[in-house]
Amino acid sequence: MSRQNLSDYLSSHAPSATLAQLILSIAEVSRAIRDDLSGGALNDILGAAGAENVQGEEQKKLDVIANERIKTALSALPSVRGIASEEEDEVVAAHNDGEFLVTFDPLDGSSNIDINSMVGTIFSVLGSRGEGAVSEAEFLQPGRQQLAAGYVLYGPSVMLVLTVGKGVVMFTYEPKSGEYLLTEAEVSIARECKEFAINMSNQRHWHPAMQRYIGELLQGSEGPRGKNYNMRWVAAMVADVHRILCRGGLFCYPWDARKPEQAGKLRLMYEANPMGLLVEQAGGKVCTPDGNILDIQPEHIHQRVPVILGAADEVTLCLDYHQQ
Ligand code: F6P
Ligand code: MN
Repeated sequence: MSRQNLSDYLSSHAPSATLAQLILSIAEVSRAIRDDLSGGALNDILGAAGAENVQGEEQKKLDVIANERIKTALSALPSVRGIASEEEDEVVAAHNDGEFLVTFDPLDGSSNIDINSMVGTIFSVLGSRGEGAVSEAEFLQPGRQQLAAGYVLYGPSVMLVLTVGKGVVMFTYEPKSGEYLLTEAEVSIARECKEFAINMSNQRHWHPAMQRYIGELLQGSEGPRGKNYNMRWVAAMVADVHRILCRGGLFCYPWDARKPEQAGKLRLMYEANPMGLLVEQAGGKVCTPDGNILDIQPEHIHQRVPVILGAADEVTLCLDYHQQ
């Protein structure tokens, strides 16, 4: 059976040739990141880079390499006006007359690199037609306005998962041809589920509503939910959300009382929004305790948010508990 490749899919589904070109460029650079990763310790790129990013997290060598690769590839496209990355303190200007702003997490879950476990690249594309050099203010658009969003998952196989606002599709990388081939044309998340993902070690620091909600899942068939739930935690948002897109479930990274001034751990503009658009396009829900993530008016590019996403009925119930 012959499968559609990414380029053919984009020619018939992307709203413009320039957006198609941008996504193909991310696919191209992901091949190089895949090669970096697959060499592991042999490439001498494991471990810390010796610096912290603007969020105070240790940068891994591969965070820095992946960031440079993506920044170079996107900046070369005349359609790109500017980029914002987890690994860049400020927005980076590209072409003043470009039409796209791209935000990305070059290597999500990078603490997994040193244990040869899954990581990914997350991206989000916004539109802008500003004058002169790009400003941070132009990036501050609600997630609802994303033109495209997706991720590349570097796992046992490499996959590119994408939405251009017409559902969610999955492509698998075929090493022999160097192509991404369509392997799932209609991703859909069931309303109900029996699996959740949360870092349970933080339980005692959550808001009481979150403690109640997860506590009830843990009571299983003896509790109010009347059924047993399974738990999984890869510690890379890309991989945890990928599992939810494949077989359903709920993912939460809640607010935590240890840093009450910090809304959550995950970043709105290059983690929660792109994953949120994918989840919504697949029929799931995505929210903070205050409402839909995609409606948040961002205040700065590195803003953090609490995240509850996945199976619609579970997200709704969790939100209800917070709003009671
Ligand atoms: O980018 C932040 C991140 O690495 C996510 O990919 C992941 O979901 C989360 O942090 C893991 O957090 P923790 O270290 O608490 O398990
Ligand atoms: Mn990340």
